[in-house]
Amino acid sequence: MVLNVGILVSGRGSNMQAIIEANREGRLGVDKIVVLSDNPDAPALDKANALGVEAIYIPVKSNGAKLTPEEEDMFVKELKDRDVGLVCLAGFMRIISHGILREYEGRIINIHPSLLPSFRGLNVHERVLEYGCRYTGCTVHFVTADVDAGPIILQACVPVRQDDTPETLAERVLREEHRIYPMSVRLFSEGRLSIEGRRVIIEGWEDYE
Ligand code: GRF
Repeated sequence: MVLNVGILVSGRGSNMQAIIEANREGRLGVDKIVVLSDNPDAPALDKANALGVEAIYIPVKSNGAKLTPEEEDMFVKELKDRDVGLVCLAGFMRIISHGILREYEGRIINIHPSLLPSFRGLNVHERVLEYGCRYTGCTVHFVTADVDAGPIILQACVPVRQDDTPETLAERVLREEHRIYPMSVRLFSEGRLSIEGRRVIIEGWEDYE
């Protein structure tokens, strides 16, 4: 199966970079990657270009949490024009609720820096420290209309240190994000993921390398 991937970003783009680099090393089985951003100043756009990947700013006018239906349609057009079969949200700071979700339901995934279903939303590391959690981590999940609540694909666990700050914790969690996000893309491209209710079944997972 030929799979093209669209990565939606708003900022730094380190997860985007991890996916692009893993694919360059031949680890993902993805054909083409396109990067789309709602932010013209996203450092991710330059990073993608430097890595030889097409990167496009979609000129959106709204600045709320949600894009308008017309704005989502602009994303859908670029994705469909490039035959994208999997959409990865990677630090995309908008809630998807219209055309993108309709078009890509079951084919759109996100990374969140907590062990979902705990700590949905923003300012995760601050809240993890406030609660005195001993462990935190990150989650790759399918995107549904319910924010940060879709079926879980992969998770990684990170111990919390007593002297952690939100910044030191974010840094260690990010290292795990860069490991499990490309791995999730690979599982998708290998056709191993199926959604059953709230759960994702990974074919051959117990023997997976
Ligand atoms: C990551 O922590 C990710 O979990 C969250 O937003 C951050 C994006 O970072 N959704 P980057 O742009 O991938 O560097």
